[in-house]
Amino acid sequence: MSTCILAIESSCDETSASICIDGKILSNFIANQTVHAKYGGVVPELASRAHMQNIVPVIDAALKTAGCDLQTIDAIAFTQAPGLIGSLLVGTQFAKSLSLALGKPLVAVHHMQAHVLANLIPEERPSFPFLCLTVSGGHTQIVLCESPNKLKVIGETIDDAAGEAFDKSAKLLGLPYPGGPLIDKYAAAGNVARFKFPEPQIPGLDFSFSGLKTSILYFLKNAGTSNVYKEEFLADEAMQKKFIEENLNDICASIQNRIVSILLNKLKKAAKETGITDICLAGGVSANSGLRKAFTAMGEQMQWRTFIPAFEYCTDNAAMIAITAYYKFLEKDFADLSISPSAKAEWG
Ligand code: KG4
Ligand code: ZN
Repeated sequence: MSTCILAIESSCDETSASICIDGKILSNFIANQTVHAKYGGVVPELASRAHMQNIVPVIDAALKTAGCDLQTIDAIAFTQAPGLIGSLLVGTQFAKSLSLALGKPLVAVHHMQAHVLANLIPEERPSFPFLCLTVSGGHTQIVLCESPNKLKVIGETIDDAAGEAFDKSAKLLGLPYPGGPLIDKYAAAGNVARFKFPEPQIPGLDFSFSGLKTSILYFLKNAGTSNVYKEEFLADEAMQKKFIEENLNDICASIQNRIVSILLNKLKKAAKETGITDICLAGGVSANSGLRKAFTAMGEQMQWRTFIPAFEYCTDNAAMIAITAYYKFLEKDFADLSISPSAKAEWG
């Protein structure tokens, strides 16, 4: 008997649905919301409305592509936490209604566990125990995975997430939201060693990115001559703009290089402390080409086996919810209809 799962992801600004049969992904549809770009960030109310418009066509497309219909589904999975509460509500209510109407079990999935388990989608998978560096717009974590359902967060950011560090830096440079992919693009033609930004000294395996943001702010206000606070900054707005225009590639490359080194130095420390050599990346920021390259190079140097999910499974998607739900289904870890979504939820 095979197990067919319909999964729904709606935690932020992507509406996604996926079908997974026995741990194999048959479809993964993602509707991106473009409505937020002009506001410089995700507007929660607009996100909820867009989810309501997108959810039926996205589920329909996922079912059709997989050659399934609602009668062949064995369980309905959804992202229960964390995320924007209004966005989570749309997916949760839809999943609960389907579960009630079809008489099929409900599986509640934690979004961060799902980002990690995206590494179990391809045929070539890490062996347990493995480490995963999860880097997204809302989280930065090092997770120790002993089994699909036994995960422990051993390091995380104490302030901004890595994606926020990219997006906030981009905003300071006058780039539109989300700025992460744009920094990546400009960095490709830049000199990583041109400008120096400080590496924070945070104990243990935790991260911090807020100091970097402040240092970039002062650096720009001084038109690159210094990144310390001055009573009177050295550049007026026109000079700052000119400095950015003339040096954009090198500034982006230097910022990206520092974010990547903050991430990978802690990952290296975690690998040394745990003795684990199967190491994964996950989350939207793992689409960053500088991070992917440096992660792979570090893996070769340290003799790790490294894993990065395919691009469509790095950013928010329902396939990662489906694969996580599959392992929860095997353990009969079902939710009942009284379950509510949660904007924040501890795990690991
Ligand atoms: O995992 P994700 O899709 O959504 C969250 O759960 O947050 O991650 C989104 C984040 C954004 O901050 C975005 O700027 C960043 O991932 N991102 C990138 C790149 N592609 C997406 N950051 C740097 N370089 C990229 N190529
Ligand atoms: Zn995410």
